[in-house]
Amino acid sequence: MKKAFLVAVAFVAFTAVHAQKIYATKSAQVKFFSSTKAEDIEATNSQAESKLSDKGQLMFSLLIKGFRFENELMQEHFNEKDYMNSDQYPKSEFKGAITNIATVNFAKNGSYPVVAEGNLTIRGVTQKVTAKGTLTVANGKVSTKSVFKIKAKDFGFTGKLITGTISEELEITVTAKYD
Ligand SMILES: *[C@@H]1O[C@H](CO)[C@@H](O)[C@H](O)[C@H]1NC(C)=O
Ligand SMILES: *[C@@H]1O[C@H](CO)[C@@H](O)[C@H](O)[C@H]1NC(C)=O
Repeated sequence: MKKAFLVAVAFVAFTAVHAQKIYATKSAQVKFFSSTKAEDIEATNSQAESKLSDKGQLMFSLLIKGFRFENELMQEHFNEKDYMNSDQYPKSEFKGAITNIATVNFAKNGSYPVVAEGNLTIRGVTQKVTAKGTLTVANGKVSTKSVFKIKAKDFGFTGKLITGTISEELEITVTAKYD
């Protein structure tokens, strides 16, 4: 009797975990922008992976080598050892959650203000970040957009990128259209 009860509890717990719906994409876009007196630096990665569950779990993962710059020399330098060191740290990752997911109705068209909170890892350095954004539901299709800022020195950037000094604050724009 006790055993049957435990099996039933385990089964309910299992289905509860697996009842969530996962939205995924392998073509989310992550752009960063840095503005200084000398120069604006901008690069885009259009092959970021992302997963979002309707319970709020959110993750992004991308390859540093996937960032495209207009200036090819800058792109090369960006990946070098004294900068992103992408041979040693090939990935950047965000793992966290949308904290107000309860306000989103995935069954109904709408544009919802959301807040994501979690750990952002760049070049082996992990920092807690909070980002505001918008989650849009259109005919059951989910997309998200967020613009937020990170401090370069929080992730250990102090150097120069060719002629441009990376600014104190980097603006990050993340756009994901889930399958
Ligand atoms: C973020 O990192 C902290 C400290 O390592 C950890 O306790 C926490 O569980 C992490 N959060 C997520 C969502 O991974
Ligand atoms: C939901 O949004 C889509 C795309 O914007 C639109 O084509 C559709 O008619 C909308 N459905 C409802 C029920 O409003």
